Amino acid sequence: MSRPGPGDPAFSEYWKEFHDAVEPRPYNPFLDVLEPYLPSPGLALDVGSGRGKSTVWLLDRGFDVWAQDADPVAMAGLVERVKVHGVEPGRLTTSTVPFEEAEFPACTLAVSVFSLFFTHPGAFDRVWAKLRRALEPGAVFGGQLLGPNDDWASPELSFHSSSEAHALFNGLEILHWEEVERDGQTALGQSKHWHVFHIVARRPL
Ligand SMILES: C[S@@+](CC[C@H](N)C(=O)[O-])C[C@H]1O[C@@H](n2cnc3c(N)ncnc32)[C@H](O)[C@@H]1O
Repeated sequence: MSRPGPGDPAFSEYWKEFHDAVEPRPYNPFLDVLEPYLPSPGLALDVGSGRGKSTVWLLDRGFDVWAQDADPVAMAGLVERVKVHGVEPGRLTTSTVPFEEAEFPACTLAVSVFSLFFTHPGAFDRVWAKLRRALEPGAVFGGQLLGPNDDWASPELSFHSSSEAHALFNGLEILHWEEVERDGQTALGQSKHWHVFHIVARRPL
């Protein structure tokens, strides 16, 4: 499937359909998986933050948040969501730099809910190395990688076999690793075969 990338005028329009579809739903249930492993509050990165459901969840748990998403329209929605939520503006930093060019600040938590695999495959290893470097000792990563049997696996997206995915976490302590392969639907209700790794890992102290 063809999907506009950051900088393409159609990027925000493409993602608007997704954000509109998930707007009435609660935050992603992966955050409930992550919750028992949360470190002490500090700076949390929300990588691919969309309209900010995970951002608000993190702010509610005492983290300051650095939200990053290449879609400026979704980011405006995130800022509005945080404002309506009554959070002091100083607790949120935003960036609309694409993952491929991002510099991540040092953090105690990095969350990327169904986002990181949208990184261009030619840039994934570099982006992942930067994200790993941003994890302070004891910091936690939580997010998804896409497996090769996923219907979206294509030269446009970053996907990893089980052994490739494990290799990315060498040196990190795996706290939760769940490989899910099933027929289901996209957020827009289209049939889709999913092959996803749900991962929570911690950089040792
Ligand atoms: C499936 S959405 C998930 C959004 C949010 N984490 C959530 O759970 O609602 C993926 C997000 O990644 C962002 N994105 C996709 N490719 C990107 C890239 N190359 N750089 C930065 N953001 C990107 C999109 O704008 C979108 O908001």
